Parts: sequence; C-alpha cells; structure tokens
Amino acid sequence: MSRPYLVAGNWKMNGTLEGNTRLLQGILVGLERCPDVEILVCPPAVYLESTGASLKRSRAVLGAQNLCEQDKPGAFTGEIHGHMLKELGCRYVIVGHSERRTLYGETDDIVARKFRAAQICGLTPIFCVGETLQEREMHQTESVLGRQLGAVLKLCGIHSLAQAVLAYEPVWAIGTGRTATPEQAQKAHAFLRAQVAARDARIAAALRVLYGGSVKMDNASALFSQPDVDGGLIGGASLKADEFLGICGAAQAQMKAV
Ligand code: 13P
Repeated sequence: MSRPYLVAGNWKMNGTLEGNTRLLQGILVGLERCPDVEILVCPPAVYLESTGASLKRSRAVLGAQNLCEQDKPGAFTGEIHGHMLKELGCRYVIVGHSERRTLYGETDDIVARKFRAAQICGLTPIFCVGETLQEREMHQTESVLGRQLGAVLKLCGIHSLAQAVLAYEPVWAIGTGRTATPEQAQKAHAFLRAQVAARDARIAAALRVLYGGSVKMDNASALFSQPDVDGGLIGGASLKADEFLGICGAAQAQMKAV
C-alpha cells in the first residue's frame, strides 16, 4: 500500500500580505525538486483567498486551520463555515490542533463535530491528536491518543477515516525545539494505525499519519524514514521557504528510497 507523503505548512497566526507573497514565491520555485510529495499550505483564514491566487497553476494545495462545527451558516459571530472554505479553494482543514484544544477550550466532542462538519462540506480533515508532557511521563500517551481518536470514531465511524489525514503532534514538541525521536514518533504512529486496523485493515493501510512538532530540515529525514510516518505538519519551519523546501525534499528523498 503506497501512501504519498504529505508535507503541510501550518502558518498559525503569522504572515502579512507582502510577506506571504515572498514566502510563496520562494516555495513555488523549489517545488519541482519534490514532484511526488503532496504540498499543502494552511495560512490564516484572512489570507486564504490571496494565498489561493498565488498557488493557482502550481501543484501546491490550500488548506484552512480551523472551521466552525455548526451544520448550517447563520448567527455565529466570528466563525467560518466549511462551505466558505471550500468556496475559497480549500481542500483540507486542520481540526483538533492542540493550540485549539488548550487555548480555546475545544473538547474531544467539539473536535469530532468539526471533523464531521469538514467532511460534510467536502473538505479533508487533518485530525490532530497528541499528549502533553505530563501525560507522557505518566505513561498515558496511548490512552490519550485512543481517547482523542475514539471521539471521532464514535461520531463519524471508521469509514470517515478513508477521507481524512491523522496528525500526531505531541504537545511537548510543538514550538519547543524538542522533537520526538524517530522511535517515539514511530511508536505513536504505529499505535494509531493499529487502532484503526483493529476496525478496518484497508483503511488503516491507506491512512496517512503525519508527524508534527519542531520538524526542521535537519530532522525531517530521520522522521520520514519511519514506516508509519507519512509526512509532516510543519509550524515554524513552514514560514521560511528554504526550510520548508528542505523538509519537502526530505520527503521526496524517502520516496526515491522506497
Ligand atoms: P512547530 O513546527 O512550530 O513545532 O509546530 C508544529 C505544529 O503545531 C504544526 O501544526
């Protein structure tokens, strides 16, 4: 079962119109060096339209960082419906990022509803799970991952994962410069895939599981060489064209090695 690598830049709340144009120009000129890697850019919502315009005629695709869990558009001040993201050309949307869970109080239940809302609108959710440092030290990593994954399985069913991407993002590795070792990442990814395989082996075999948390050009190869790591969700390093392209190049090199 081949799973094409996906490298996704999560810009978080960063960027300016002018800076984004420069960053995207820098990324686009290097994309021909990684023809087999799927490249995704997730800017802040206000920059989706301009970013989409810059990506037109390129292979890179557009994604959003968040969406509203409500079924229908309406009186939800400040929120953005999945249809709106779709209209702007988004293919993917991140749900369950730990910053949304911890800073904005998104529960497993809300995350599952966002996952469902994304799929209803034809968007592919990039569903983030991950444990805190305290949970890891208390040997709760697998129970936390199982609980977070379980909430989506309960609401949306196993078949929903045929149209989704999983992202393992240990909270202690996000923005800290402290990356999970390739072995730690592999262990968590294999656990997640096994959870899915226990319900549907074919869906598990095709499911892409990205790693996120301080991925850089220098550590990407070791992470991507793990059998269950199918790409990366990149924060800080996605804001520098050369770093981001270096990470995409590391994914391309793995594909050649297969
Ligand atoms: P960093 O790459 O900055 O650690 O962020 C990871 C992340 O949260 C991607 O969604």
